[in-house]
Amino acid sequence: MSTTESQPAVSPFLAPPILTTESTTPSIIHIKRDQLLAKPLSASAEPLTTRFGSFPVSSLLNIPYGSQEESKGFVYILAPTPELWTTSLPHRTQVVYTPDSSYVLSRLRVRPGQTIIEAGAGSGSFTHAAVRAIYGGPEGKGKVLSFEFHAQRAERLREELKDHGLSQHVKLIEGDVCEDGFTFNPSLDKPHTTKPTDPDSVYPDPHAIFLDLPSPHLAIPNIRESTKHAVHLCCFSPCVEQVTKTHTALHAGRWQSVETVELSHRRLEVYYTPKDTVSGDCGSFNEALDKLKVLARGRRERIEKGRWASGQEVDDTEIDQMVEDKKAKSRAKQEGPQQRRPKPTLNDLKLGPKTGEFIPVISRYEPELKTHTSYLTFATLPIKWDEEEEKECKEKVEREKGGYVQVFRKGWTKEQETLNENKKAKQKMMEEKRLKKQEEKRKRKERSQGQAQGGEPEEYGVAEAKEEIKEEVKSEQ
Ligand SMILES: C[S@@+](CC[C@H](N)C(=O)[O-])C[C@H]1O[C@@H](n2cnc3c(N)ncnc32)[C@H](O)[C@@H]1O
Repeated sequence: MSTTESQPAVSPFLAPPILTTESTTPSIIHIKRDQLLAKPLSASAEPLTTRFGSFPVSSLLNIPYGSQEESKGFVYILAPTPELWTTSLPHRTQVVYTPDSSYVLSRLRVRPGQTIIEAGAGSGSFTHAAVRAIYGGPEGKGKVLSFEFHAQRAERLREELKDHGLSQHVKLIEGDVCEDGFTFNPSLDKPHTTKPTDPDSVYPDPHAIFLDLPSPHLAIPNIRESTKHAVHLCCFSPCVEQVTKTHTALHAGRWQSVETVELSHRRLEVYYTPKDTVSGDCGSFNEALDKLKVLARGRRERIEKGRWASGQEVDDTEIDQMVEDKKAKSRAKQEGPQQRRPKPTLNDLKLGPKTGEFIPVISRYEPELKTHTSYLTFATLPIKWDEEEEKECKEKVEREKGGYVQVFRKGWTKEQETLNENKKAKQKMMEEKRLKKQEEKRKRKERSQGQAQGGEPEEYGVAEAKEEIKEEVKSEQ
């Protein structure tokens, strides 16, 4: 197992839970539900000062994760995970939050042992989620290749990855993927993107690529086809203009299954609306209309009162209307207060729509969920075929014109070929059987015609008839 002195055997980011707090990776301090802090617990670190009191590092070290530590108030000490890191990391850029990264990684079909490219790395939020997805054990082959052209950001992330024990699973490459593509020189200590023409440049042949850049359309032409597997791509775009450019770049290449998804999380507020109850609130359209009418009448009344007081003319019909309104109001007062909306009982819930029902009436954006509006464009680059495979497929398309041919799945041709051959052999056998029967029928007809004309049956007809009788006797036995 390759470990350095300052790094744990397996990073707790990859294999939680470790049981006690350690100084090798930051612990996540839960101060409030929406306030998490990633804090290294090395002996030299400053005490943790919060509005709930001050906590010396010695009181936080070597205690079970999940502990509650008390001072004036209390905080919890949590084991680090990519999710907690995302909500506690020091922001250098806009970050990808967990709802997006988990969806992206599952749509990109990232599996342990695979290679994934991300560009740009930014604050490293997606990097942490990606490294857990490709992690296939300490000796596993999985790798994240993170490209970032901003030198300070790249340096800061490199430090963090080292502190988190993740450097052996992530290669941080400093360079511009739009200009130079995704090739790099592995022999350099701090890998840089290198021009594809550079003899030392290596293309990492990734299974998946995640582009979180302002110009993904300029990086897309630099993605190469693989001869071993399909390449799955996701571009994270904050605006539709970027999506359009991304689609144009994808359609210019051999990309397939191009589609854009918008993730939106909404909270539905569900109210209880009794069906047969007249309520003070607006339970139905007519109730709402009545309520609006009362409001409009009140407004008119106030205007009229103002005009009367200021000595302006008010005609008789207006006065009559006001008298009527007043009468209606006092009638309503005598009838007593309006029936209040009853609270639903357990029985109402059981009866459901008979007496009332819960209906969602308003939806709002979910404030508890951290995410930022984005469009996710997905696409797949099929396996690269060699010339022979390409020719074979073209011929097959020609042969089966009119039928749909699944040209992008290697191996299909062979399978289908065998099936087709079996089918053809069966058809040939059936055809031969049919012709044989036809021939027998024809001969029988000829024989019976010959007998009818009084002629002697032909020799071969007699022998054949004998054979048939023999066969029948055999089958009866
Ligand atoms: C929105 S941030 C990425 C945030 C990151 N995905 C995260 O989860 O923290 C975009 C990053 O891409 C970098 N970037 C932009 N264009 C680039 C390019 N052509 N090559 C490499 N990095 C680039 C920027 O420096 C910036 O740090």
